[in-house]
Amino acid sequence: MCGIVGYMGKRNAYDVLIQGLKRLEYRGYDSAGIALEGSDGRLRVYKAKGKVADLERAVEGQDISGTMGIAHTRWATHGVPNNVNAHPQCSQSGSIALVHNGTIENYGLLKTALMQQGYTFKSETDTEVLVQLIEYVKETNHCNLFNAVRESLRQIEGAYAIAVMEKDNPDTIVAARKSSPLVVGIGEDETILASDATPIVAFTNKVVYLQDNEIAVIHRDRPLQVLSLETNHPAPVDIKTLQMSVAQLEKGGYDTFMLKEIFEQPETLRDCIRGRIVDDGARVVLSGVLQNKQKFLDVNRIVIVACGTSWHAALIGKHIIQDMCKIPVEVEYASEFRYSGPVITDKDIVIAISQSGETADTLAAIQLAKNKGAFVYGICNVVGASIPRNTDSGTYIHVGPEIGVASTKAFTGQVTVLTLLALCAGQVRGTVDAGTVRTVAQALARIPDTVRDVLKLDEEIQKLSRTFTYAHNFLYLGRGYNYPTALEGALKLKEISYIHAEGYPAAEMKHGPIALIDSEMPTIIIAPTDSLYDKVVNNVQQVKSRGGVVVAIVNPGNTAMQEMADYCLEIPEVPECLTPIVASVPLQLLAYYIAKNKRRNVDQPRNLAKSVTVE
Ligand code: G6P
Repeated sequence: MCGIVGYMGKRNAYDVLIQGLKRLEYRGYDSAGIALEGSDGRLRVYKAKGKVADLERAVEGQDISGTMGIAHTRWATHGVPNNVNAHPQCSQSGSIALVHNGTIENYGLLKTALMQQGYTFKSETDTEVLVQLIEYVKETNHCNLFNAVRESLRQIEGAYAIAVMEKDNPDTIVAARKSSPLVVGIGEDETILASDATPIVAFTNKVVYLQDNEIAVIHRDRPLQVLSLETNHPAPVDIKTLQMSVAQLEKGGYDTFMLKEIFEQPETLRDCIRGRIVDDGARVVLSGVLQNKQKFLDVNRIVIVACGTSWHAALIGKHIIQDMCKIPVEVEYASEFRYSGPVITDKDIVIAISQSGETADTLAAIQLAKNKGAFVYGICNVVGASIPRNTDSGTYIHVGPEIGVASTKAFTGQVTVLTLLALCAGQVRGTVDAGTVRTVAQALARIPDTVRDVLKLDEEIQKLSRTFTYAHNFLYLGRGYNYPTALEGALKLKEISYIHAEGYPAAEMKHGPIALIDSEMPTIIIAPTDSLYDKVVNNVQQVKSRGGVVVAIVNPGNTAMQEMADYCLEIPEVPECLTPIVASVPLQLLAYYIAKNKRRNVDQPRNLAKSVTVE
């Protein structure tokens, strides 16, 4: 939530910062702002409610010169989205500007103390408290910006990634992080910092991922300096090379990032599987599992923690790990996990699934699991993010940057990695027979082509979507492996079309949701010809006999279902555990086109953010 960027170098800072904000807009987009340092030593701060494009309009005709600046795109936590609450927040004298991603928990107490010292506040934000505190410390201690920031942060409880600059000091930006991400890109005579690497890659592929409780000084004429917030001693500056290209961050001819990401799935799944299925499907090689064989042999129980779409992938993972590894698996919302008195021991493996690798609740859950002695395994997409850096081992899904707020290719990548993990650990434990491994692994190796075939439904789904544009409620039903697919289908529709949709286990429908069924509420039923197919047929009949409208996702040639359901979408047959990957694709497209028919902003749906770095 919220994206921050900072720039110091030779270029026009405004251009770099605006371009960076556009890359980070997926993190929040209710207001944006920028602070620039001009050669005359003045601090120019511009803000606008709305998107980065609104900021650009607001700045038209203003002085945007300067080679240093900081900028912010906001997802409101404290205070409504408006110009006053937008960042940068400035100190009382106007001489210090600050951008912040995170939340300051003790801001109330600090605010009262500062007010007693004569400080007045313009905004409702927690961030303004921090910038005022920095000014107060600077003035009372007569110290420089770095020391004032460091001392202030020592008084702060909460999460933050910040960048701070001051008037009359066109050579220094101070940045720091605790529980919110911050990456510093090191170019030739220029430095760019950001909440993730996407604003950086156009300028340099050399980056430093700041660690928690580190503070960095970006100075025009000196190399990057990183220090420990606690000891003030220099910390190692570990320069990594980015594996990301600018092309991955563009729409590549598609109307939206979401559509591009749906259509990219054949390639992203290929990248996800590459090198992991060997000997014609006889073996699955996942280094995270193989390097920790004993953990997977000794384990009593696996607990998977995740949020949102990743939680749906976790439910599928539970099923397949139990099938292949005969290990009991529990799935927890990361946000509930630590408040549910979790009983975790050193015989547990805790798997954290997260596209961004930055979700605050998931991070907090793994911290607790680690403290209780569990072996913690991460399944993430963003390389070098906080979760992979804070786990004992893990696997990247390697699907490339996902920019559309509604997750699509990351979901199919997560399910793919969970399948690989189940097969690999099952082999290690001797709980899955060679025939099953080969059948599933070979089908998984073909899944990129299978998904390519499913994408041919595009036009048919686009047409079908028009029938449902004005529905107010949807029911999504599935059983077994496809109950989570139903949840995910419903979530996609809710997120981007703002239509209410409920995912339900098909057989549970009779215990409540059946009361809702009428001709106005479409029911989407995932009904591949699997072990539960006959039972799902009964559910279709129950809906039809109450006047409901049914769209069934079926395997080819299912004439019986074609007669029963109002509409059928055919997906290729695959082993049962792989049906969620294949069945989720038409549901992504259906949600997409319904949302487009309603003229929604599918890449940036209202109120949502891609990466939720606050509790
Ligand atoms: C937000 C996003 C979802 C995502 C969830 C978990 O709510 O909008 O798309 O599934 O966070 O994010 P993570 O990065 O941990 O998978």
